[in-house]
Amino acid sequence: METIKSYVQQHKDRFINELIELLKIPSVSADSAYHHDVINTANAVKASLEKAGCDFVEICDTPGNPIVYGEKTIDASLPTVLVYGHYDVQPADPIDLWTSPPFEPVIKKTEIHPEGAIFARGSCDDKGQMYMHVKALEYMIQSNTLPCNVKFMIEGEEEIGSKSLSWFVERNQEKLKNDVILISDTGMISNQQPSITTGLRGLSYVEVEVTGPNRDLHSGLYGGAVANPINVLAKMIASLHDENNHVTIPGFYDKVEELSLEERAEMAKAPFNLEDYKKALDLNDVYGEKGYVTNERNSIRPTLDVNGIWGGYIGEGAKTVIASQAFAKISMRLVPNQDWEEITELFTKHFINIAPAGVKVKVKPHHGGQGYVTPTDSIGYKAANKAYTETFGVPAIPVRSGGSIPIVALFEKELKSKTILMGFGLDSDAIHSPNEHFGIFNYLKGIETIPLFYKYFVEMSK
Ligand code: BES
Ligand code: MN
Ligand code: MN
Repeated sequence: METIKSYVQQHKDRFINELIELLKIPSVSADSAYHHDVINTANAVKASLEKAGCDFVEICDTPGNPIVYGEKTIDASLPTVLVYGHYDVQPADPIDLWTSPPFEPVIKKTEIHPEGAIFARGSCDDKGQMYMHVKALEYMIQSNTLPCNVKFMIEGEEEIGSKSLSWFVERNQEKLKNDVILISDTGMISNQQPSITTGLRGLSYVEVEVTGPNRDLHSGLYGGAVANPINVLAKMIASLHDENNHVTIPGFYDKVEELSLEERAEMAKAPFNLEDYKKALDLNDVYGEKGYVTNERNSIRPTLDVNGIWGGYIGEGAKTVIASQAFAKISMRLVPNQDWEEITELFTKHFINIAPAGVKVKVKPHHGGQGYVTPTDSIGYKAANKAYTETFGVPAIPVRSGGSIPIVALFEKELKSKTILMGFGLDSDAIHSPNEHFGIFNYLKGIETIPLFYKYFVEMSK
């Protein structure tokens, strides 16, 4: 029988070219100008699942972007794996900072990827990682080694909050019934050291608006006499952290799960080099909450960050003006037990509270979601670890990630099953940034590792 290793070797050029075709379609969910491309991408994903050998594939319409659903049932008495991924991508801007156009994929070698990496928006997050599952299915069907049933659910709104997917999951519990959910939409420590993501942070995302005078004013005639919304907003934002970089919103930390010293000592065992970390980002020092190290600050601790801030004159030259309004987009990354809706309320109350007289403040909630932690003693985790151990030669390390996939907590609530986060990206792959890329090594290793997960999951479930 043909092994997955030899199958990948034999078909790798085609696997790469198929992914490149998918990456050419700019499925940016945040920008309605790309709506047609979003639809075209859903159709392309549908066709790829049909070709791989699913016996039923459909495009499911939702109030928003369509969901691609596919399945291959071999025996109802066997376990079912539900694969989730997303075909939508982040906007590509700032375009100027890309060394090649974001939707014209090219393979380039890098220090970390000597075998080459595919540069394109969505290459790692998440088209490349999603497509590994399509190719792994192709292999299992071609080689007659698919050991269980499989369902695919690939959505087009992950990057904008998965609203339609929540709607879909709530209405299709029976259809989506499964024994484990498998997702590749996270990362691993390095190409030598695989890891399995055991936690995701929650998220509360808000936009704030500060309004002063009813029109833009001459900054000489009125300066000093009225509240300047930009000055006020800057001051309000600055006050959201204290001198120890703790968030100052009353109640913000009330429900935060505190890890024991043993758990923190366990986390500290994961390979991490602070000097390399600083060098990769061109920083002379790191920054963050007092009492915690970098790998804790970005995973087990909640945070508050301004993602964008604007107002007033930003064109060429100088314009003397006091703007009528100032705005900011603020995200809070949350940890288990913090409820995102409650945190959104605490933020809103506090932000309105600290506004000085002389301005009006509005807070508009965007989207959010709960955090997630998954145990390391489940069959799914053990099967994933065995699969990584076989393809990388070393066991995977459990790692709590700082990123968010809010739908995962909803899966557990609605479908009552655990999610296994088998990521193959690297932090240096620049997801959401200019020059996003995905290593050829990582892509092919993913395709190789996934069938082993199926094999061990079914074996261990018996
Ligand atoms: N795939 C990422 C999340 C991720 C990346 C988790 C790497 C762990 C490691 C996902 O597409 C994403 O970007 N999520 C958003 C949240 C969403 C609601 C916009 C995020 O984390 O900002
Ligand atoms: Mn993603
Ligand atoms: Mn993303």
